[in-house]
Amino acid sequence: MENEKINTSKVIVRKIRQDEIPQAIKIAMDTLTENYSYEIFYSIYNSWPEGFIVAEYEKNIVGFIASSRQSIYEARILMFSVMDVFQNMGIGSLLLKKFEEICKLNGIRAIRLEVRISNKNAIIFYEKRGFIIINLINNYYSNGEAAYIMWKMLEN
Ligand SMILES: CC(C)(COP(=O)(O)OP(=O)(O)OC[C@H]1O[C@@H](n2cnc3c(N)ncnc32)[C@H](O)[C@@H]1OP(=O)(O)O)[C@@H](O)C(=O)NCCC(=O)NCCS
Repeated sequence: MENEKINTSKVIVRKIRQDEIPQAIKIAMDTLTENYSYEIFYSIYNSWPEGFIVAEYEKNIVGFIASSRQSIYEARILMFSVMDVFQNMGIGSLLLKKFEEICKLNGIRAIRLEVRISNKNAIIFYEKRGFIIINLINNYYSNGEAAYIMWKMLEN
C-alpha cells in the first residue's frame, strides 16, 4: 500500500466482524505504545460489539476504535488507531464521527478516554474535536507515564 492521499469517500466505517479482530490487533501492535494481550481485544468485543468499529479501505482494515460502555450514559475509548501510512488523511475523523453517532443511537451522552501526556498529536486531534482534559492520572501506563483523561459531552 502506498503512502499517498486516498479518496476518503471510499473508506467504509462499520462494526468489526469477529474474524477481523486479528487485523485490529496487528494495527494496535504497530501503532500503540502500550502492549495489550489478545484476550483483551476479544473481551472488549464481547462486552460491547457495537463499540468496536473499523475503517475499511479497498478491502483492508486500516484503523479502528475499541471501546467500552462505562455506564448507561458514558462510553470510553480504550484504543484508537489508524495505520501509519493512512494517518493524516481523514480516517481518524471518520472513525470518531461514526463512533459518536453509534454512542448517540445507544443513548450515550458522553465519551471519555485516556491519552499519554506525551502524545501531543492525539491530544490536539481530540481537542479539535471537542474533547477537553479533565484530569491527570500519574503512573497510568506500564512504563510509568501519566495519562490525561479527556472527555466530551455529546450534543443532541
Ligand atoms: C490519533 C489518530 C487516531 C488520528 O487518526 P488520523 O487518521 O491520522 O486522523 P485524521 O487524518 O482524521 O486527522 C489528523 C489530521 O490529518 C489532517 N487531515 C485530515 N483529513 C485530511 C485530508 N483529507 N487530507 C489531508 N490531511 C487531512 C488534518 O491536519 C488533521 O488534523 P486536524 O486536527 O487539524 O483536522 C492517529 O494519528 C493514530 O493512529 N495515532 C497513533 C495512535 C494513537 O496515538 N492513538 C491515540 C491513542 S489515545
